[in-house]
Amino acid sequence: TAHQDLTGRTVLVTAGGTREPIDPVRFLGNRSSGRQGVAIAAAAHRRGATVTLIGAHLTVPTPPGIDLIPVTTAEQMHTAVLAHAPSSDIIIMAAAVADYRPIHVLPTKAKKDGTGLTHIELTANPDILADIATNRRRAGQLIVGFAAETGDDTGSVIEHGIAKAQRKGADLLAINEVGTHTGFGDVPNTITLVTNTGQVLDSISGTKDDVANHILNTVVHLLSTDGD
Ligand code: C5P
Repeated sequence: TAHQDLTGRTVLVTAGGTREPIDPVRFLGNRSSGRQGVAIAAAAHRRGATVTLIGAHLTVPTPPGIDLIPVTTAEQMHTAVLAHAPSSDIIIMAAAVADYRPIHVLPTKAKKDGTGLTHIELTANPDILADIATNRRRAGQLIVGFAAETGDDTGSVIEHGIAKAQRKGADLLAINEVGTHTGFGDVPNTITLVTNTGQVLDSISGTKDDVANHILNTVVHLLSTDGD
């Protein structure tokens, strides 16, 4: 856009999918491409912000002008987020973070001869979004989470999303309804923005750039109505 409405703001974005090592060659991972987070970082940069992108295994290049911090695991992402969150006005957590990691990382490659691996014992990773939003929030900061949700018999996608925003303490949650045709990879995205007070803002379907600008429009609006 032509609007430099994020000039003077610092924006921190997480993107991509963490990898949790099992042995020197194997890991637990996910199919996140990082595209939506990179699109948000790029849009924020175009709108005048100073942008730091913490990227786990991004499949797309980072546009020039953005400070990229590459990480592999959830714990590395947590450390990087903690280092940059205090100086950020806007934090947008678009990464797919592994909920669990193997307790033991084998020092040598597991073999299939019976001495190798038949069970992997897991332990919970830190919830990075919940940690910064509930324990380390600075006044005036605006924190946005993402959630890929499928509706089920315990509630709608929207209800789950609002509950998640409240549980994690995010100001805004971008709910991504996961179906066969939207969500991961190089496809259009549909998201609905909800607040942790239970407000359902609008939905948008479009390219990842459209979604990025829509989220930033809402962020700019919320910051301007916050007396900031
Ligand atoms: O609980 P769920 O994984 O659906 O929450 C998704 C949101 O929480 C995303 O914004 C994601 O980046 C963030 N998250 C996190 N640390 C985790 C798990 C998720 O920051 N360990």
